[in-house]
Amino acid sequence: MRETHHHLDLSSRPRRNRRTPAIRGLVRETSLDASHLIYPLFVQDGETQPIESMPGQKRWSLDDLIGEVKRAHDMGINAIVLFPKVPHEHKTETGEHAYDPCGLAQRAIQAVKQNVPEVCVITDVALDPYNCDGHDGIVSPTGEVLNDETVAVLCKQAISHADAGADIVAPSDMMDGRVAAIRAALDHAGHTNVSIMSYTAKYASAFYGPFRGALDSAPRSGGSGKPIPEDKATYQMDPANQREALRELELDEAEGADIVMVKPAGPYLDVIAKMREVTTLPIAAYQVSGEYAMIKAAAATGGLDEQALVIETLTGIRRAGADMVLTYFAPQVAEWLS
Ligand code: PBG
Repeated sequence: MRETHHHLDLSSRPRRNRRTPAIRGLVRETSLDASHLIYPLFVQDGETQPIESMPGQKRWSLDDLIGEVKRAHDMGINAIVLFPKVPHEHKTETGEHAYDPCGLAQRAIQAVKQNVPEVCVITDVALDPYNCDGHDGIVSPTGEVLNDETVAVLCKQAISHADAGADIVAPSDMMDGRVAAIRAALDHAGHTNVSIMSYTAKYASAFYGPFRGALDSAPRSGGSGKPIPEDKATYQMDPANQREALRELELDEAEGADIVMVKPAGPYLDVIAKMREVTTLPIAAYQVSGEYAMIKAAAATGGLDEQALVIETLTGIRRAGADMVLTYFAPQVAEWLS
């Protein structure tokens, strides 16, 4: 007989549900699976190059891109987003290269759809890679980022991505009214099956720094002499605001978005959770370049475990209410989970 110990008279002992791995598996509320992940990839013409600001990430040549997409797909990653790095000679004040049928983005979309057709190709709709001023929209002579003029160009860009074979276009520009305009333009061009993943609550964040390094796309004075806003605060959201995200959500729903996004992810879990309460649409969250670089830097000190950090941050993003997560760790996570 076991000695009777004095014990507390507790009606509930939550630790019983944590006692063994099998029980913990039964009560686990949040799952993380490769099917939830979207892999962002940088592309350029010429040779594949490492990205200094994002250790482990590369700007892929079109040939190597196909290999990387196949590798990721073999591990269970079924969706990618493409980010083209366009040379400066192709950048203009109005970003015409954005809708060039032979542009880098369009060729990359075609190459992936030809070689790995089962992978869902998502494209970024915004002007910053093509704009010599480094803004997502057209900058006026007085330094204003123009809304309606920009939306007209974004519509052409979205159609050209759909023509090239994109499954989903993702406007990341934060101009007003662009989802409705892009939906109408796509439908008019016969692309009723192409989805819109809207960057609904995209914050003016310091966490995009490494991405702008990777694409050399930060706002800059292009030599035209006009004043260029140093940041994106007149169109991307103020990190202090939560209710405003719900306002953007209502608009994107009404305008026909298929998927709504919160970006960055980790510092904005409350925004994901609030949106989850009020929308029936799928929610995407973007673990951005700065979140990636921060984890890489922390792991490089030797004091933190990279795998554990990545799984925990992604689980937190899913727990907050995201259906899908864009993360540069996608193929690595798929490997860890298998
Ligand atoms: C550009 C765009 C950005 C990102 C995705 N699309 C940068 C920005 O808005 O300045 C950031 C992604 C990342 O940091 O990983 N429209």
